Amino acid sequence: MADKAETFADLLPEIEMVLKAGAPRDAKLQRVCDILKTRVPYFDWVGFYLTDPEKPDDLVLGPFNGAPTEHVRISVGAGICGRAAQTRRLFVVQDVSKETNYLACGPDVKAEIVLPILVGGGIWGELDIDSHTLSPFSSEDGEFLGKVCALVAEMVRSRS
Ligand code: SME
Repeated sequence: MADKAETFADLLPEIEMVLKAGAPRDAKLQRVCDILKTRVPYFDWVGFYLTDPEKPDDLVLGPFNGAPTEHVRISVGAGICGRAAQTRRLFVVQDVSKETNYLACGPDVKAEIVLPILVGGGIWGELDIDSHTLSPFSSEDGEFLGKVCALVAEMVRSRS
């Protein structure tokens, strides 16, 4: 792929435009998944998990692009997603085979990055990305995806 920094610099304004457009929320989140999955070769599964308003200790699968997953509901504390929700911090795993608290999605997945999306001091949801490449994520990925999550949070706040 082209230089990571260059690719991310191109994608950010595109994603910002999608999130600021007048379309239904889930259609915009779906578009963000589609852009990330198709334009970054080592992003093999891209999806959002959203906090269940009825049961705030659960994350429910929202829009995604990639193979269907059995993990459509994840409790806070369970797996990488659940722990990112618990700590409210970026969670990067460069080699999932070394993780004990991990919810496997398939034998091809080698690495995962999860970022919480914080709105009003609470977890609104998460952006979750699986990779079939070992150790694919650098600080550039964290920074770029953090900006994507900040744009999602801004969209959510502007509608509430
Ligand atoms: N691997 C995740 C579960 C979700 S899938 O990656 C889509 C986890 O351990 O939380």
